[in-house]
Amino acid sequence: MATLGSRWLLSILLVIVPKCFAPAPPASPSLPECYIPCDENNCADIRCKWDSRLDPEIPTHYSLHWKSANSEQVYGINGTSTSGTIDREDYVHGELRVWVQAKNQHGSAQSQAALFNTADIIKLPPPTVSSVSDQDSLEFSWKSTCAELQDLSLGQCEVQYRTEAEQVWREDKDVLHGSYTVDSPQPGTVYEFQVRCSCDRGLMSDWSAIHRIRSTETAPDGELDVWSDCGIFHKISDCVVTWKKLPISQARGLILGYEVRLSYSNGAPVLVNVSTAEPTGRLACEETQCHFTSSLKDVASVSVSAYNARGATKPSYLALPTPGEQKNEQAIRLVMNEENLTVSWDPPAQLSDNLKEYVVQYKQAGCPPGQGFDWIKVNKRQTTGIFEGRYIKYTAYQVSLFTVSNCSKVHHLSPVIGYSVQGTPSRGPSFEVSSIADTHVTLSWEPIPLSEQNGVILYYQVVVESGADGQNVVYNVSASPQRESQTFKLLYLSPGQEYEVRIRGVTTAGPGENKTAEFKTKDHEPFAHLIAVVLGIILLAVICVLCILYRACREENKVWCLSASLTKVPDARNSHIFRHMKHQINDSFAWICIPVNEPHPKISLLEVVEKISGPDGFTRIAVGDGCSQVDCQDDRREKAVKEECQRTDHRGREDYSKMVDSDEERDGEASWSSSEGYEKHFMPTALEVLEG
Ligand SMILES: *[C@@H]1O[C@H](CO)[C@@H](O)[C@H](O)[C@H]1NC(C)=O
Ligand SMILES: *[C@@H]1O[C@H](CO)[C@@H](O)[C@H](O)[C@H]1NC(C)=O
Ligand SMILES: *[C@@H]1O[C@H](CO)[C@@H](O)[C@H](O)[C@H]1NC(C)=O
Ligand SMILES: *[C@@H]1O[C@H](CO)[C@@H](O)[C@H](O)[C@H]1NC(C)=O
Ligand SMILES: *[C@@H]1O[C@H](CO)[C@@H](O)[C@H](O)[C@H]1NC(C)=O
Ligand SMILES: *[C@@H]1O[C@H](CO)[C@@H](O)[C@H](O)[C@H]1NC(C)=O
Repeated sequence: MATLGSRWLLSILLVIVPKCFAPAPPASPSLPECYIPCDENNCADIRCKWDSRLDPEIPTHYSLHWKSANSEQVYGINGTSTSGTIDREDYVHGELRVWVQAKNQHGSAQSQAALFNTADIIKLPPPTVSSVSDQDSLEFSWKSTCAELQDLSLGQCEVQYRTEAEQVWREDKDVLHGSYTVDSPQPGTVYEFQVRCSCDRGLMSDWSAIHRIRSTETAPDGELDVWSDCGIFHKISDCVVTWKKLPISQARGLILGYEVRLSYSNGAPVLVNVSTAEPTGRLACEETQCHFTSSLKDVASVSVSAYNARGATKPSYLALPTPGEQKNEQAIRLVMNEENLTVSWDPPAQLSDNLKEYVVQYKQAGCPPGQGFDWIKVNKRQTTGIFEGRYIKYTAYQVSLFTVSNCSKVHHLSPVIGYSVQGTPSRGPSFEVSSIADTHVTLSWEPIPLSEQNGVILYYQVVVESGADGQNVVYNVSASPQRESQTFKLLYLSPGQEYEVRIRGVTTAGPGENKTAEFKTKDHEPFAHLIAVVLGIILLAVICVLCILYRACREENKVWCLSASLTKVPDARNSHIFRHMKHQINDSFAWICIPVNEPHPKISLLEVVEKISGPDGFTRIAVGDGCSQVDCQDDRREKAVKEECQRTDHRGREDYSKMVDSDEERDGEASWSSSEGYEKHFMPTALEVLEG
C-alpha cells in the first residue's frame, strides 16, 4: 500500500512540477470594463480597467486594443498591468470593441472583447447634496448633472445614510426624486448621507462625498445612572459621585454640563453647575463615565441631572453610604476571565417589598477614584450580573453587592476579591518574631498588600528550619480576611537553638516569594534561677529573724514576745489583742509570728499551700490548720480571713507572675502550680528552721 501511495505521489509531482517551472505565456487578462468619466466641462477619454493575474517573476507587457464597428482598423496602446486610456482623438462615437493583450518572452494571451456603445459608458459626476433639518424630519436633496452636462433626463438614484455612531449604512435604491426624507430622526444626532445617480442613459455616477447634518436637538430624556465610587476599602473620605454618560438616544443633543445638587446632613443644599467644556477639574469624564471630584464631606445625598441647549434630565437621587455600614450578609460568587465578570448571589428567602433593585459594582485595585470602576443595576428578581470588559490578569478586582430600597437607602452586602487570572504573590508578608522563649516564639505579620498578592491567598506557608540539623517543619496557616494581621505560635522548639523561619503566601497558582527571619530560642528556663535566688534571699532573712526571736524568748524567758504571750491564751479567737494585732501587723509579720507561737509547730503551717476553689469561684489558700480550722468556724472571722487569703493568694500570684514570662501569665493554673512547686522545693520546713 505504502509503495503504491508513494508512486502515486511521485507521478503527481512529475506531472505538476514541470508545469510550474516550464516557460509559459501569460494568463489571459479579464474582460476590460470601460467608461467615459465626465466633469463639468467635457466627457472625453475612455478609461478601461482589467485584472491581469500577473506573474511577478516574468516581465509582461499589457496593451489595450479597440476597433470601431464600422471600421476594420485595429488600434492599440501600451497600458499598465490593470488599466489603459483611449484618447478622445483615437476613437469615434458609436459601437466599439475593446480587448486586452498580455505578452511576455514565452508568448501572448488575449482577453475576451467587450462590446459597447460609447453613449452607454458615459459616467456623470456625482450630484451635489444639500439638506434641511427640522423637529420632525431630516431632508436631503441633490442636484443631478444629467440635464446640465449631457442634456439627458434623470434616471435612478441610490441613497445611503447612517448616524455617526453606526457602522453600517442604511440604503435606499430606486429613488426617483431629487430628495430624500428621514422621518423622526434621533434628536441632536449627526447623520451621514451619500447619493449616486444615473441618467436615462449611461452609467451610475460614483457616490457623492459624505454629507453630515445634525438633527434638531430636544431636551434630554430619562435619568442619569448615578452611583458612588468609594474605593476598595469603602472609606467615606474616598467617595466620589460618578455617573454614566447618556447615550445619544437619551442625550438628544450635545450635553453641555451637569447640575449637581449636594444635600448636607447639617446645612442648606448647594447647587454646583459643572460644564463639560469647563477645564477646571471639578468634573472628570472618561469614555463612558463622568465623576464629580469635589469633596463629599458631610454630604448626605446628591442628585445629578444633565443638560443640553434645550433642557435637562430629571435629577437622579443617590443617598451616600453611611460610614461603617458593611455586613457580610450574603455570599456572592464570582466567575471571572479576561473578558467577562459574572457575579451571582442567592435570592433572599423572602422578596421584600422594600427592595427596589440590586447594584453590583467592581473596583480595580490601585485605581484612583472614578477609574477602574463600573456598576450595573439589576432587577430585584434577578440574581446575576454580568460585566463585559477587559480584566487585567494578576490584578485584584473587588466586587460588591448592594441593595437599594424603595426610599433609595443603599445597603452594602458583601465585598469579594476576584482575579481574572491568578498568579503567585510577588512577595512574602512582612513579619516579626516576638515573645521568644525557650521552646516557643510568636510570629506576627500583616497580610501581603493587594497589589502584590496577585491572587487570593489560600493560606500562608510557614517553614521553620533548625540551624542545628537543618530539618524543616512546615505549617499551613489559613489566611485571615484582608487587612487583619495574623499571629502564629511556633511550639516545640529546642532551647538555645538558632532557627530560620520563612513565610510565603499560597494562591491557586502556587506559593509566592518568601520573607525570611532568623532567631535563637532562649536557654532553658532562665527565670527558674532568678526565682530560686530571690526566694533563697527571702528565706534566709526569715530564718535569721526566727533564730533571733527564738533565742531571745528562750534565754531571757521574758514574755515580751507577742507570739509567746499569745500561746498562753487558751482560745486565740477571743483575744482582742489578736484581733487588734491582726489588723495592725502586716502580712509578713503574721507569717513569722503564727508558727512561732505554736508550742509544737506543725510543718504544714508553712509548707502546705493548697488551692481551694470555692463555690463562689474564688480561689483561696488554706494555710495548714491556721486558717481553715481555727478561723473558719466563726463566720465573721472566716470572712476576714478569706479576704486575707485572697489577698495573700493574689500577692503570691503577683509576685510570681512578675517573674514568669508574660505568656505564661495567661495560664494562671500553670504559673500557680509551678510556684507551689518552688515552695516545696526551696523552702525549708519549719523544723529545719527551728533546728537551724
Ligand atoms: C509599447 O511597449 C513596447 C515594449 O516595451 C515598446 O517596444 C513600444 O515601443 C511601446 N509602444 C508605445 C506606443 O509606447
Ligand atoms: C449652568 O451653566 C449653564 C452654562 O453656563 C447655564 O446655561 C445654565 O443655566 C446653568 N444652570 C444653572 C442651574 O445655573
Ligand atoms: C464572554 O461573554 C461573551 C458573551 O456571553 C462570550 O461570547 C465570550 O465568549 C465570553 N468570553 C470568555 C473569554 O469567556
Ligand atoms: C416599592 O416600590 C414598588 C414599585 O415602585 C411598589 O410596588 C412597592 O409597593 C413599594 N414598596 C414600598 C414598601 O413602598
Ligand atoms: C499544606 O498544604 C499543602 C497543599 O494543600 C499540602 O500539600 C501540605 O501537605 C500541607 N502541609 C501541612 C503541614 O499541612
Ligand atoms: C524561599 O527561600 C529559600 C531560602 O531563602 C529559597 O531557597 C527558596 O527558593 C525561596 N522560595 C521561593 C519560592 O522564593
